[in-house]
Amino acid sequence: MNRLSLSLMLCACAMFAAPTYAADAVAGKKLAGDSCVDCHGDDGKGDDESPGIAGMSVDKFTKAIQEYQDGTRSKSPKMTKEAKKLSATDIANLAAYYSTLK
Ligand code: HEC
Repeated sequence: MNRLSLSLMLCACAMFAAPTYAADAVAGKKLAGDSCVDCHGDDGKGDDESPGIAGMSVDKFTKAIQEYQDGTRSKSPKMTKEAKKLSATDIANLAAYYSTLK
C-alpha cells in the first residue's frame, strides 16, 4: 500500500469516528413508532400513565433517557426497560424527532 492510499484510508476512518454524526429525526420517528407510541402516544402527548414527551429539548430528553439507563432518575420499571434497549445513536435520533414535535 502506498502512502497516498494509506492517508486516504486514515482520513475516511477519522470521518466516521468523528463526533459529527447528525441525528436523524426520520430514523427517530420510525423507532418511536416501533417502541414508544404505545405508551407515549402517536404524537408524544402521553396518556394517563405516561408523561407527554413531545417538544422536550434534545438536552432534556437525552439526560432523561440516560438517567433511566443508569437508574438515577426513577425506578419506573417500564421506562427503565425501554431506555436500556436504546443505543447512543437511538437516543440522538429519538431526541431529534421528539424535539421537533409540539
Ligand atoms: C410501557 C410504556 C412505555 C414505553 C413503551 C415507553 N415509555 Fe417512556 N415513560 C413511560 C412512563 C410510565 C414514564 C414515566 C416514568 C417515571 O416515573 O419517571 C416515561 C417517561 C419517559 C420520559 C421522561 C419524560 C419527562 O417528562 O421527563 C422520556 C423522555 C421517555 N419516557 C421517552 C420514551 C421513549 C423515547 C420511548 C421509546 C423508546 C419510551 N419512552 C417508551 C412509559 C413508557
